[in-house]
Amino acid sequence: MTLTLFFQFFFQFFFQIFFQLVFFVMLLCYFNPLHCNALHFLPTQCDCHALVKFHGCFYREGKISVAIEYMNLGSLDQVMDRFAPQGIREPELAAITFQCLWGLAYLKHEHRLHRDIKPQNILLNSDGRVKLTDFGISKELENSIGKCMTIVGTFKYMSPERILAEKYSYSSDIWSMGLVLIECATNAYPYSGIHSMIEMAQTVTEAAPPTLPPQSGFTEQFHEFVDMCLKKDPSERPVATKLLGNEWLKSHQCSTMKSATNQCKGWVDELLGVNQQNESGDGGGGGSGGSKKK
Ligand SMILES: Nc1ncnc2c1ncn2[C@@H]1O[C@H](COP(=O)(O)OP(=O)(O)O)[C@@H](O)[C@H]1O
Ligand SMILES: [Mg+2]
Repeated sequence: MTLTLFFQFFFQFFFQIFFQLVFFVMLLCYFNPLHCNALHFLPTQCDCHALVKFHGCFYREGKISVAIEYMNLGSLDQVMDRFAPQGIREPELAAITFQCLWGLAYLKHEHRLHRDIKPQNILLNSDGRVKLTDFGISKELENSIGKCMTIVGTFKYMSPERILAEKYSYSSDIWSMGLVLIECATNAYPYSGIHSMIEMAQTVTEAAPPTLPPQSGFTEQFHEFVDMCLKKDPSERPVATKLLGNEWLKSHQCSTMKSATNQCKGWVDELLGVNQQNESGDGGGGGSGGSKKK
């Protein structure tokens, strides 16, 4: 009798679990990104502090929604507009660069290119973290091939070899990083005077690469760092792991993710503190702040 009861209970329990599992799998299939072929490029979860976390994605009624980690300070261009209209200072830029290179080194280790490095895809948060986003369009590389022939990414930051539709690889992201550095240090996009794509393609591929403006107070090491990133010959650009040990970064105490994050955190605290003071000052004066507009 007890044995029959036991089996009855066992089978009841077993079927309950079985049907729950079937239901769960059906739910998963319904929301599964692989439902849609266009989603095959989406990144899988990765464990790198310099890349935004990917939480999942949904495809419903012809729309794709991607859930990623929220970075409360927004992107580098927004941070510059809000806090550093005259450009970001070297120590902070070194801390930002270290974290970006860490992300690129991780992607390289995973055989992925980013392919769309630009200020809008570099995000910051109030913990001092700097993370790359939109690496979902990065293409997974075959171990042995390691070169791409496809066009993805923002034209403005493309390396000469990409513009020329030649084979390109990880060093292409380093070129983009070089342009981002000049832009962040001066708050001016290096090719800002050029307005047509053809002219830009010609300038990027034929003219000497852009440099930091001379006699603008930047250190020699910073000039050298930028020049290395912007070598026209991709094989002359150092890889991310090599750049992580560069003297310029070391001179600003950026030799680990911890030190780079702490440096950014100090800066962000300073910015937010100053901003809050300004906002409360404006409010206290009773004015709309409109008179302070540039
Ligand atoms: N995870 C995020 N957290 C906070 N802000 C974000 C995040 N992702 C994107 N943004 C902001 O939204 C803007 C638009 O992003 P996106 O759609 O990727 O276009 P783009 O990269 O071309 O600017 C970014 O420039 C950035 O300022
Ligand atoms: Mg983006």
